Amino acid sequence: MMTEPDNTGLNLSPPADEPARQFYFIGKCAELIKKRSEKLGRPMRSMIQTFGCQMNERDSEKLAGVMAQMGLEKAGSEEEADILVYNTCTVRENADKRLYGRLGVCKAYKQSDKEMIIALCGCMMQEEHVVERIKASYPYVDIIFGTFNIFSFPELLYKRLGSGERVIDIRKGADRIVEELPSERKYSFKTGVNIMYGCDNFCTYCIVPYVRGRERSREPKEIIREIERAASEGVVEIMLLGQNVNSYGKGLDTDITFAELLSEAAGVDGIKRVRFMTSHPKDLSPELIKVIAGNEKIARHIHLPLQSGSDRILEAMNRHYTREKYIALAEMIRAEIPDVSITSDIIVGFPGESAGDVDDTIDVIERVRFDGAFTFEYSPRTGTPAARMEQLDRAFVQSNFDRVLHTVQRISKEQAGRFEGRVMEVLIEGEDEKDPLRYTGRISQNNVVHFPKEGYDIGDFVNVSLDECRGFYYNGKVSGMK
Ligand code: SAH
Ligand code: SF4
Ligand code: F3S
Repeated sequence: MMTEPDNTGLNLSPPADEPARQFYFIGKCAELIKKRSEKLGRPMRSMIQTFGCQMNERDSEKLAGVMAQMGLEKAGSEEEADILVYNTCTVRENADKRLYGRLGVCKAYKQSDKEMIIALCGCMMQEEHVVERIKASYPYVDIIFGTFNIFSFPELLYKRLGSGERVIDIRKGADRIVEELPSERKYSFKTGVNIMYGCDNFCTYCIVPYVRGRERSREPKEIIREIERAASEGVVEIMLLGQNVNSYGKGLDTDITFAELLSEAAGVDGIKRVRFMTSHPKDLSPELIKVIAGNEKIARHIHLPLQSGSDRILEAMNRHYTREKYIALAEMIRAEIPDVSITSDIIVGFPGESAGDVDDTIDVIERVRFDGAFTFEYSPRTGTPAARMEQLDRAFVQSNFDRVLHTVQRISKEQAGRFEGRVMEVLIEGEDEKDPLRYTGRISQNNVVHFPKEGYDIGDFVNVSLDECRGFYYNGKVSGMK
């Protein structure tokens, strides 16, 4: 049943070039989706569930953009979805456990709706043992693909829709970076922008270099073009994304540092605030600190993962800095950028870590005074050097973890209070979940603020007086538009 004239070239064979090839398959999927929707008597619906970091969030925005172009509507729940995608993370074991838990539930979905398509992608799919397990034990998973070919989702979905057979396509590395496919932002006013992919650091505990591949920087021109486009569509805040943004530029023909890119990004018309994630302490330059200090548009927030405060453990982790170097860096940041907030990631229980090493970590936390820190229990990841080392006793790790967590909580609570009574600029991010008469937003330092709505809109910058600090957030009121 062909009702519309076909002038899109869809009857030709697929182009070999990317992204033209995927646009071709988006069109092919759209035809099949339209037919199936007619049969169902309602639009087909999709849902993406995202685990993990901002890289995955951004990848999911790309998948969402592609699916919207295929004519898929958004499902209100997993059960309601005709196509359900899990974008997975494998940085720690509990991320894996969460996925297997969800897959158990998917079995029931599939029993009540045999036509439902379940797709798995993301970092976990880059691990051979995971794919083997899914192949063997979860026959109702329809599509499996990895991080290197996320762009080829339209082609894989078309194969599945057309053949009804399971489609698995995992690549070992990225032979190219394919951009310029549609993407759909989760928020209208802010978005992440990838500036680089992969990681070359091989911290001995970490699986990211194995599942995301070697570090590849994007051309600055392309990055700026993407930011300009986002700004023209109403985005006011961007977050530059990379596993180690401070080494941006390596391997490019253009001679450019991260600090230079950051100031260019902040200079794009319409962009009012720029964030970035993540900084590796070993590569954070004085030039970068200067650029941040001198540019009000760049957020007063640096996420600077410490991981450990013990020199012995830092070396075993392959982090390339010492506790003293880290402390000096943090002091320089605090001295040069007034009001800056420094947050961190800390791992407890790395192989060989003694109670004394944990004391060293606690000492650094107390000296740097983190405004916030994620504390993780070390989780052995298959294939990483640390997973082959002798592992510590769980109860011992747990008691160390509690000590670190208490220190982090005590200090970040003390730190949070330091802006009480001040008037600060807030980007309104949405309605307060607990009170529809109030908004929620963030100050440049990334702290959350709740305040009564007073005629402003989501995406506006307003000046808010931070009247009361409630641990990790503030209650305030608007004192004027920016
Ligand atoms: N590229 C970033 C981190 C990405 S992973 C950086 O180097 O700063 C986010 C955090 O997860 C890391 O900072 C680390 O604290 C934690 N992490 C990574 N691998 C881990 C593991 N095997 N066990 C526990 N935590 C881990
Ligand atoms: Fe993992 Fe280290 Fe790379 Fe961060 S810098 S992604 S912790 S290997
Ligand atoms: Fe997880 Fe992959 Fe990010 S392993 S933390 S989603 S890069």
